[in-house]
Amino acid sequence: MILEFNKENIITCAQKLKDGDVVSFPTETVYGLGANALNEKAVKEIYRLKGRPSINPLIVHIYDINQIDDFCILESYQKEFLNKLKVFWPGPLSLVLPKKDIIPNIVSAGKPSVAIRMPKHEVALSLFKEANLPIAAPSANISGFLSPTTAFHVDEAFKKFNVPVLDGGNCTVGLESTVLSLLKETPIILRHGFITKEKLENVLEIEVIDGTKSKSILPKDILSPGMLLKHYSPCTPLYLTSEKYPQSDNAAYISFKNSESELNDDVKNKFKHIVFLTNDKELIAKKLFYILHKLDKMRFDYIVIDSCDETGLGLAIMDRVTRATNKTVQK
Ligand code: TXA
Ligand code: MG
Repeated sequence: MILEFNKENIITCAQKLKDGDVVSFPTETVYGLGANALNEKAVKEIYRLKGRPSINPLIVHIYDINQIDDFCILESYQKEFLNKLKVFWPGPLSLVLPKKDIIPNIVSAGKPSVAIRMPKHEVALSLFKEANLPIAAPSANISGFLSPTTAFHVDEAFKKFNVPVLDGGNCTVGLESTVLSLLKETPIILRHGFITKEKLENVLEIEVIDGTKSKSILPKDILSPGMLLKHYSPCTPLYLTSEKYPQSDNAAYISFKNSESELNDDVKNKFKHIVFLTNDKELIAKKLFYILHKLDKMRFDYIVIDSCDETGLGLAIMDRVTRATNKTVQK
């Protein structure tokens, strides 16, 4: 059930959260499926609705940076990091910190840490403020499928469960938040997102480790279970241009070029439908899931997708693209 953003619907949805129900809301990254983070039963319902493995912890969403003290125990170096990183809040950055006991183990999947984020979205912030609760929320997709960037995507996936979806239009960032662990004195990126390693290092003025490149050396208490799971796949088979794909006259191509004039004839002739996401990484990020959702409905035999260089935001884009190619095996 899609609900327009207005005062009345915010009050209704906030009451649902207080009553232990699940509500979907927009953020600048993707839509979230939220419940009261302090209510174990409500959080359990999120896992059930999504079909999410219980080993994968949830992000707790807040509306005021001071709420961190209610949920986390910070050492002085973590306070210093936070003080610098708050320039990115509200925004697409989740911080993993040592949790207080008030956060139920189901939220953190048994870990002693919790990921905290303050989204940059008027609808989300109004809802959290009205509910006056910390909100545990994963992306509002069935586990393993594409993340939602419109209210319609969420409604389609959760219609049969009657989940209310507050409509905030299209997400402006389009990829899930960067997840940064602050559990050790060297910060570690656990998931790439819009806030890149370069941006983090500029603000922190120290080196940040790319934990996604060195999973095997990460201590178990740092590792993010989400890093190991196959993710974000459309139902239609998706291939990288560098992969072997079958021949068909009913296939689509997602290009990271600006227009047809930049394509070679081979691609032009091979594909029935071509979408140009441009070569601007922010635009690619914003539209990637949206286009995959759209093409997935058009019943192509398969989709082939371009690659971009893995620098800056390109790391987050190629992480989502390779996971979506269906061939990332569950490790
Ligand atoms: O942009 C986003 O982050 C969206 C919106 C709704 O805020 N949420 C989102 O949540 O993408 P989800 O559940 O789809 O992804 C959360 C990621 C997972 O990879 C999970 O393993 C990791 O964060 N994570 C959560 N808590 C963690 C913790 N305590 N330690 C390590 N990783 C954690
Ligand atoms: Mg997710």
